[in-house]
Amino acid sequence: MENPHTLALTLVLALCLGADAVNPGFVVRLTQKGMDYARQEGMTVLQQQLSKIHMPDFSGSTHVKHLGKVKYSFYRMRVRSFQLPNSQISFVPGTGLKLTISGAFIQVDGTWRVSYHHISTHGGFDLKVEGLSISVGLKLGSDGSGRPTIAPSDCSNHIGDVHVHISGKFGWLADVFRHSIEKDLRNAIEKQICPLVSDSITSKLEPLLQTLPVTAKIDKVAAIDYSLTGPPPVTADFVDVQLKGEFFIFANRTTPPFSPPALSLPVDHNLMVYFGVSDYLFNTAGYTYQSAGKLTFTVTDDMIPKDFSIRLNTSSFGTLVPQISKMYPNMLMKLVISSVSAPYLTIKPENLTISPVMDLKAYAILPNSSLASLFDLKLTTTAAVKIGVTSGRIVGTLDLSRIYELIHSDVGPFSVALLNVAVNYYISHIVLPQVNAILTKGYPLPLLDHVQLTDVVLQQSQNFLLFGANVHYN
Ligand SMILES: *[C@@H]1O[C@H](CO)[C@@H](O)[C@H](O)[C@H]1NC(C)=O
Ligand SMILES: *[C@@H]1O[C@H](CO)[C@@H](O)[C@H](O)[C@H]1NC(C)=O
Ligand SMILES: *[C@@H]1O[C@H](CO)[C@@H](O)[C@H](O)[C@H]1NC(C)=O
Ligand SMILES: *[C@@H]1O[C@H](CO)[C@@H](O)[C@H](O)[C@H]1NC(C)=O
Repeated sequence: MENPHTLALTLVLALCLGADAVNPGFVVRLTQKGMDYARQEGMTVLQQQLSKIHMPDFSGSTHVKHLGKVKYSFYRMRVRSFQLPNSQISFVPGTGLKLTISGAFIQVDGTWRVSYHHISTHGGFDLKVEGLSISVGLKLGSDGSGRPTIAPSDCSNHIGDVHVHISGKFGWLADVFRHSIEKDLRNAIEKQICPLVSDSITSKLEPLLQTLPVTAKIDKVAAIDYSLTGPPPVTADFVDVQLKGEFFIFANRTTPPFSPPALSLPVDHNLMVYFGVSDYLFNTAGYTYQSAGKLTFTVTDDMIPKDFSIRLNTSSFGTLVPQISKMYPNMLMKLVISSVSAPYLTIKPENLTISPVMDLKAYAILPNSSLASLFDLKLTTTAAVKIGVTSGRIVGTLDLSRIYELIHSDVGPFSVALLNVAVNYYISHIVLPQVNAILTKGYPLPLLDHVQLTDVVLQQSQNFLLFGANVHYN
C-alpha cells in the first residue's frame, strides 16, 4: 500500500510546481564559456578598482640599543601595480556564481623617515604583496521591475607574503622596523580588499545589468516585455535568465488567451550565449497586432506596378467576371485584406509555418467615392517563414501559398479560380512586401549595453527557436 506521507508530499509538490509553472517566453542561457569571457572583461575593471586601495601611513617610536628613542614613519605610499593574473569563475547551483582569484600581487613604493636625538634621515622603499587570494560569491536575483540583480556574498581574502625592501644609506636603521610595518600593512590591506571587491560589484556590475531593456518598444503600437519571471536558475553548467518574452499593446495591455509552452534547451554549450525564443513571443506579436487592428492592408490600382496587365478596375476585372463591368462600368476598385484571427506561428524542427486566415473584400469605387461591395473571399494560407538574426535583432520573411474560397458575392456566382492570377499577384507584390518590411525591421533581442553578437547559429526546435552566439563587449 502507498505510504500516505509520500502521497501527501507528492500532492504538495505537485501543487507547488503547478502554481509556480510560469514558462518563460524567452530564455537567455549563459554558458561557462560566456562566463569566462565576462570574467576576463570584469578582471580589467576589478584591477582598476583595486588599484585605488589606500596605503595608510605608519609611524611610531621605539627604543634602540645605543641610539635611545628612535621615531619612524613610512609614508607617501603609492600603488605602482595591482595584478590579478589568475582567476576563475564557476557556477554555484541554486545561488549564483563564485569568483576566485589567486596569485595576485601588489607593488607599492613609498618613503621612510627615521629620527633620533636631533638627527633625521630618510629614503625610499619598495613593497611587494604576494600570493594574494580572493574568493567572492555572486548571488543572482531579480528586482521588483524584473531586472537581474547581482550581490556580493561570502567574500574572503588572504595575503601570502608582504615584503618590504628598504634602500638608502641608513636603510639598515629603517630595516629595524620592517617586520612591524609588514604586519601592519598586511592587516590594513586585508581589511580593504573585500569592501573594494563588493563595491566594484555594486558600482560597476549591477548598473551594467540594469541596462537590460525590460521593455523593448517596437513601434507606436507594441512593445516586448523582457522582464525576468524570477531569480535566474543556476546549474553546475549554466545560468538561465528567464524572461517573460511577451508582446503587448503599449497603450492598453491585455493578457493573451494562451500561455507559453515549456522549453527544453539542448545541452550543447560551444558558444557563450544561447537564446531560446518561444513561439509564445511570436504569437503574442500576432495577437497584439491583430487586437490593435494593424493586420489590415488596402490595395488600390496606384499601388500596382505599371507592367502588370490586370488593373484594379472594373473593366479589367470585367474580362474575368463580366457582371463586374456590367454593374459598375469604368470604375476603379479597392481590395481590403485583413487577418480574420491572430496568425499563429508553429515552430517545428523541420520548418516554421504560419497559417493566417485572411479575409479579402473587393469594392468598386463609385463616382461619389463611396464603396460598393463586389465580393468577399476567404484566403486560407500557409506561409513558410524564414528567420535569422542581424545586428542583435530577429528578422524574418514570409513566402505564401494560398487557397481561395468565395464567401459572398454581390455580382452573382463566378468561379474563384478566375481570380487566382490577379489576387496572387496583388498579395505577393503588394501585401507580402509590406509584411516583410515589418518583419525585416525585426525584434530587438534583450542585450545589455555595448554587447554585440558574433558567430550566430540558428536551430529550430519543438515550440522554440534557438540562437547560439558568441559575445563581444566594447
Ligand atoms: C483595451 O482593450 C480592450 C480589449 O481589447 C477593450 O475592450 C478596451 O476598450 C480597450 N481600452 C482602451 C482604453 O483602449
Ligand atoms: C482599367 O484598366 C485598363 C487596362 O486593363 C485600362 O485600359 C483602363 O484605362 C483602366 N480604366 C480606369 C478607369 O482606370
Ligand atoms: C512542415 O513540416 C511538417 C512536418 O514535417 C510537414 O507536414 C509540413 O508539410 C511542412 N510544411 C511546410 C510549409 O513545408
Ligand atoms: C453614392 O452614390 C450611390 C449610387 O449612386 C448612392 O447609392 C449613395 O447613397 C451615394 N453615397 C453618398 C455618400 O452620396
